[in-house]
Amino acid sequence: MSSQMLYEGKAKKIFKTEDPSTLLVRYKDDATAFNGKKKAVIPGKGRLNNLISSKLFDVLNRKGINNHFVKRLSDNEQLVKAVEIIPLEVVVRNIAAGSLSRRLGIEEGTPLKRSIIEFYFKDDALGDPMINDDHIRMMDIADDSDLVQIRQTAQDVNRVLKEIFDGIGVLLVDFKLEFGKLKSNGGIVLADEISPDTCRLWDKATHEKLDKDVFRQDIGDLPQVYEKLLERLEDAQ
Ligand code: C5P
Repeated sequence: MSSQMLYEGKAKKIFKTEDPSTLLVRYKDDATAFNGKKKAVIPGKGRLNNLISSKLFDVLNRKGINNHFVKRLSDNEQLVKAVEIIPLEVVVRNIAAGSLSRRLGIEEGTPLKRSIIEFYFKDDALGDPMINDDHIRMMDIADDSDLVQIRQTAQDVNRVLKEIFDGIGVLLVDFKLEFGKLKSNGGIVLADEISPDTCRLWDKATHEKLDKDVFRQDIGDLPQVYEKLLERLEDAQ
């Protein structure tokens, strides 16, 4: 299918479709980390993230968590509802790792008493700084009722994803979500992707990393690790 590209990000390209209420997302094989400072092309990554993200969005839809996913179109492509992305990265954490461990000196792997939600302002030039509800309202990124909905949905997604991953012997350490406003009616829905690029996932028994940290830290073969995760997810309900 050839049509006009609307946007190219680090990991995906977005194209118009004949229907203005939908968009085509094509997952790329490009891998980036540390705000684009580390880059590689990893053949097969786009397919794996598309298949994993499609599976997770489909389960979330079936569990009543509205999201932009319509259907998978091919190995690398999915059809989604057209949204305007809210420039927020919503990070949910269950176990200390990554920037939380670095900032607060909490040892990686420490379970958190309660899950934590953090907001980052999506802005490459600023390096995606962490912001709070007051900054979000001050900058008109979202209003009070949007924030209530975003927090509630992030918690609901956490509950459903933890259940899915628990069922396949995987710990959901943390993950990042993005939300968008539907072009059709302005309603807020979960958007972007949910994949091992955007989640930390550890094998429950061995704590082996099954996510993009294998690329960030050069500690494994990314396609092999993602393929293993996809195989496990195929059994998930
Ligand atoms: O780096 P940090 O520990 O803050 O990341 C938390 C979670 O958010 C990780 O699962 C990471 O993969 C995800 N994330 C992301 N995109 C970013 C920043 C973080 O998917 N730009």
